[in-house]
Amino acid sequence: MLTEIKALVENLAPRLIEIRRHLHAHPELSGQEYQTAAYVAGVLSSCGLQVQESVGKTGVVGDLKGQGQDSRCLAIRTDMDALPITEGTHLEFASRHPGIMHACGHDIHTTLGLGTAMVLSQLSEPLPGNLRFLFQPAEEIAQGASWMIQDGAMGGVNHILGVHVFPSIPAQTVGIRYGALTAAADDLEIFIQGESGHGARPHEAIDAIWIASQVVTSLQQAISRTQNPLRPIVLTIGQISGGRAPNVIADQVRMAGTVRSLHPETHANLPDWIEGIVGHVCRTYGAKYEVNYRRGVPSVQNDSQLTKLLEETSREALGSERVQIITEPSLGAEDFSLYLEQAPGAMFRLGVGFSERANHPLHHPQFEADEKAIVTGVLTLSYAAYQYWQGLA
Ligand code: NI
Repeated sequence: MLTEIKALVENLAPRLIEIRRHLHAHPELSGQEYQTAAYVAGVLSSCGLQVQESVGKTGVVGDLKGQGQDSRCLAIRTDMDALPITEGTHLEFASRHPGIMHACGHDIHTTLGLGTAMVLSQLSEPLPGNLRFLFQPAEEIAQGASWMIQDGAMGGVNHILGVHVFPSIPAQTVGIRYGALTAAADDLEIFIQGESGHGARPHEAIDAIWIASQVVTSLQQAISRTQNPLRPIVLTIGQISGGRAPNVIADQVRMAGTVRSLHPETHANLPDWIEGIVGHVCRTYGAKYEVNYRRGVPSVQNDSQLTKLLEETSREALGSERVQIITEPSLGAEDFSLYLEQAPGAMFRLGVGFSERANHPLHHPQFEADEKAIVTGVLTLSYAAYQYWQGLA
């Protein structure tokens, strides 16, 4: 069957490049993927899939029904949205939508989903179980996965696979990671309320700026002294404001930041831990405070069984020299993690780097992906999906 899948992917390659270039030239922002969704639905229908549109606002679900005895359903998720960036490449298929660019490779992801649907719907023997394609909107604003889930896209799904392009891995190579792939990312906002006074008479005031600086310092020190160093936390206060004049003690400070973590237990305890430290410092110096902790997306925790499926099938399909085992997680975030709260799964990295020149990073106006990655990605997803019903218990 691998030979048949390889031949199908090779035959489809020119069409897949055409699809990718069309998507790249017509990027749409998060939550506004109307043209992309209509295009995706059209291709899926032409492959004979059952298609549902407007799932999770602008998302699309395609079902490829199995013909065998296995009732399990595997989902494949690809995201579709672009970024508010003015494209700085000189590609002939560069963005035709001013100020919007596929700078995170979601045009490639969408192409991979469509390519995999094309390949697996053309197999000489139908799949034994059900395959569901999730074309997700609004990944860049970390909303789309929850919209899709709320609309029931994960109903009946047993396992899920995902993919993201990665410019520092060469094209035609994949990166496999066991365990945590990306971090949990939460938002933090802290208000400190002191009492204003003359800059020369600090003992008659409560200095919110000085207390805020103690809070920032205490949080950083407490990470190093009270948290398990093998379970990392990055806490960045990126905004701070307060005060009215050089000689007036400030009564109010607002700070805002981002908190990244990898371990689920660490993540669960973060709001109480932060509130405890802020409260302790503020009480010591007589200030009032408010901590607003907003949960973002959790960490992507790859399931070992599904990761093993990806590793073994990609070694067989691509050759072991084209499979990298990733040893370190990233502290970036990805809302694929929300699907993993519904069903176990795994996400892999698809190399899109050029061997002959340096590449720009994701979200850069000159980011380009080596299109040779498309065949690799479709082959990896198609063969992993095919093997899912063969061996995986
Ligand atoms: Ni992305």
